[in-house]
Amino acid sequence: MRLLLVHSFLLGFGLSQAAVTVYGPHVQQTFGPYGTVTAASASYTGAAVYNPTTLTPPPVPNPPPPTQFNIALESGNVQGLSITQRGSFFGFSIEFSVVTQVLGRNSSFLQVPFLNLMANIRERAGSVHVRVGGNTQDSATLVESTPDGAALEKDKTNESNPTATPPTIFTAEIIKMMAGISALTNVRWYMGVPFNDTTNFRLQIAEVGEAILGDYLVGLQAGNEPDLYSRHGHRPESYGPNDYTTEFGLLIDAMEKDSNIPNPNLLIGPNLAGVWTPEDVWNTGFVNDYSQQLSALAVERYPTDNCYAQFGVGTPRTGQEMFADYLTHTSGQHIVSSFLNSSNYAQTVGKPLLMFETNTASCGGFPGLSDSYGAALWGIDYGLQMAFSNFSGALFHVGGQSVFYNPFTPPVTNQSTFHQWTIGPIYYSALVVAEALGASNLSQVLDLNPNGGNEFTPGYAIYENGQPMRVALVNYVTDPSGASDYTASISIAGGSTPAQVKVKYLSATSTAQKYNFTWAGQTFGDVFGSDGRPMGNVDIQTVPCDQTAGVCRVKVPAPGFALVFLTDQALSESDEGPTMTFPTTAYTKFENTATIDQAVLATSNGNRGLSDSLAGTSKGRQMSGAFRLRHALPASLGAFLVGVLAVGRLVR
Ligand SMILES: *[C@@H]1O[C@H](CO)[C@@H](O)[C@H](O)[C@H]1NC(C)=O
Ligand SMILES: *[C@@H]1O[C@H](CO)[C@@H](O)[C@H](O)[C@H]1NC(C)=O
Ligand SMILES: *[C@@H]1O[C@H](CO)[C@@H](O)[C@H](O)[C@H]1NC(C)=O
Ligand SMILES: *[C@@H]1O[C@H](CO)[C@@H](O)[C@H](O)[C@H]1NC(C)=O
Ligand SMILES: *[C@@H]1O[C@H](CO)[C@@H](O)[C@H](O)[C@H]1NC(C)=O
Ligand SMILES: *[C@@H]1O[C@H](CO)[C@@H](O)[C@H](O)[C@H]1NC(C)=O
Ligand SMILES: *[C@@H]1O[C@H](CO)[C@@H](O)[C@H](O)[C@H]1NC(C)=O
Ligand SMILES: *[C@@H]1O[C@H](CO)[C@@H](O)[C@H](O)[C@H]1NC(C)=O
Repeated sequence: MRLLLVHSFLLGFGLSQAAVTVYGPHVQQTFGPYGTVTAASASYTGAAVYNPTTLTPPPVPNPPPPTQFNIALESGNVQGLSITQRGSFFGFSIEFSVVTQVLGRNSSFLQVPFLNLMANIRERAGSVHVRVGGNTQDSATLVESTPDGAALEKDKTNESNPTATPPTIFTAEIIKMMAGISALTNVRWYMGVPFNDTTNFRLQIAEVGEAILGDYLVGLQAGNEPDLYSRHGHRPESYGPNDYTTEFGLLIDAMEKDSNIPNPNLLIGPNLAGVWTPEDVWNTGFVNDYSQQLSALAVERYPTDNCYAQFGVGTPRTGQEMFADYLTHTSGQHIVSSFLNSSNYAQTVGKPLLMFETNTASCGGFPGLSDSYGAALWGIDYGLQMAFSNFSGALFHVGGQSVFYNPFTPPVTNQSTFHQWTIGPIYYSALVVAEALGASNLSQVLDLNPNGGNEFTPGYAIYENGQPMRVALVNYVTDPSGASDYTASISIAGGSTPAQVKVKYLSATSTAQKYNFTWAGQTFGDVFGSDGRPMGNVDIQTVPCDQTAGVCRVKVPAPGFALVFLTDQALSESDEGPTMTFPTTAYTKFENTATIDQAVLATSNGNRGLSDSLAGTSKGRQMSGAFRLRHALPASLGAFLVGVLAVGRLVR
């Protein structure tokens, strides 16, 4: 498959204006108008992300999974636990070309819903890991200013060549914007050094990134999917793992000569798409040669692709026929199976292994599947499977308007005053995995394979210091009759049975349901329904245990997900409680002198945003869906943030 450029949009979705460039397996760029969402799915002509297709859930399996089973948790020296994991394990990957849609327009215009979405994760996990990158970053150039004055745009100077993707140019405003987001929500960023030209490396992104982001920059990808370079015409046909390793060395040489890069040891490779095996690269001596400069090893992988429907290449597949494949424990196991040797190898060389880009399916995912409750269950199971398998982080991709799998999607710019964001199932997965792992940095994950290893009823235990803290239970079956609801009887060997456990549910009526899922009673609502803050009252169930029998019986509906907190500490580590959130209505003139109504703070239950707390702010607000920092960073960021962070601490 060669570089493929598609100017008229996707079969079946009828977006005529969008230009979508595909480099192999996934949609890189996603601009375009969208239409109404009220049309029937067959005649739907809007953007993929709002496609109303709803699938039919798979039938109850035959034989059905047993609905009563025991989970006997061991404690102490438990075999098979993962390496210790951080709460920020489940993060996001944002295609570079869409950062001005998702993060904000520039450093003085941040997207409030994005801040809230990150704050929610931070509240549970302590921090959030986000990569901005992808193929569009691999050829991007940091410039002093752009012709149109935007922080990021297509370089149209050479657009006459119809086979070339216009490269992305961007200014330091993008990185200042990221610094502002980090200061507010503790996002830690991965970026990438452009790797398209290894004789003249463009290192400005590393220079400016390190200067502005400091410790918030946690990794620099070097080469995005280099195993596809020759296919896409970016390298000669003979380009192989040894060539990549050699070029990586050239980058290191260039960075070490650059006195403006104080930390040359942030590099991440080889970020393979799957044409080469990771071992192909390990066997070149890659890690031994560059051990000092490598901060992590990484791969990228989607379980399958939907390129045929989107671009007429590859194998035809529909969401309906693929749906059942996702609603089973074997899906996540299958994806990680080819990386188990590498995660073991990574431990022997002392490097974290990251899943740098993933989601339900490349080429945008599947309508009805990628945006279903079933995908949320899959994302939890797959995320925990990666944690169990000794990955150290996994980044779920955000593509923009023309993909089905986004964890979150902003409305197109010219509709942002009357539409809100659309929150997808993978964002719910992220929240759940953040809570499952909690903020202690001590969590170790065990795949319990309960119920005789039944693939429809997976479960995991999360340990800290040899003690089971939480149990994550999935029921993939859709059965409105209730006959497939199951009850897991959890016991703790060598430990006393608690009087009660707390349980949070991720709920929906069917694996095919789109939107309105609830996590512990709270939701991000329908399409266009969210400002990034969970809505509704928190609902945490208390389940009394049978201390005589030594079991806690937890019911999981079909379909359903339950997170069982075995101790109060397990619950408190997973949600430090009310944290700083931001109202969608922007503060146009946010002042350092904002006063805080202490009475409001005292009654804050976590659903309140900063708006509610800032009762004494003298300046008005304006509907604009963006949060403006008052001055350009970094000079005045400090002063501004002192104000904001003081507020944040008080709200906590
Ligand atoms: C940031 O973006 C806003 C909205 O597009 C614009 O009004 C403002 O001038 C921009 N600021 C800078 C410094 O580019
Ligand atoms: C545009 O094309 C000219 C002539 O081919 C070339 O010299 C120049 O480097 C190109 N500019 C960019 C930004 O690619
Ligand atoms: C790499 O990308 C830059 C910016 O898009 C472009 O100017 C340059 O010609 C490219 N170099 C190669 C070797 O493709
Ligand atoms: C595992 O990885 C190591 C390091 O690359 C390699 O030497 C070994 O052959 C691999 N084992 C398997 C079974 O692939
Ligand atoms: C993960 O790493 C731990 C510690 O090395 C090991 O005991 C465990 O078997 C590994 N898990 C998998 C699934 O490879
Ligand atoms: C938004 O912009 C698109 C593309 O420029 C245009 O087709 C559409 O009509 C605009 N919508 C509104 C509500 O202004
Ligand atoms: C967890 O690790 C992160 C990153 O290393 C660190 O910032 C944080 O303070 C740690 N949290 C705890 C509770 O140790
Ligand atoms: C989501 O909930 C809202 C409010 O209850 C309701 O109007 C809407 O129809 C629901 N949407 C879906 C897709 O269930």
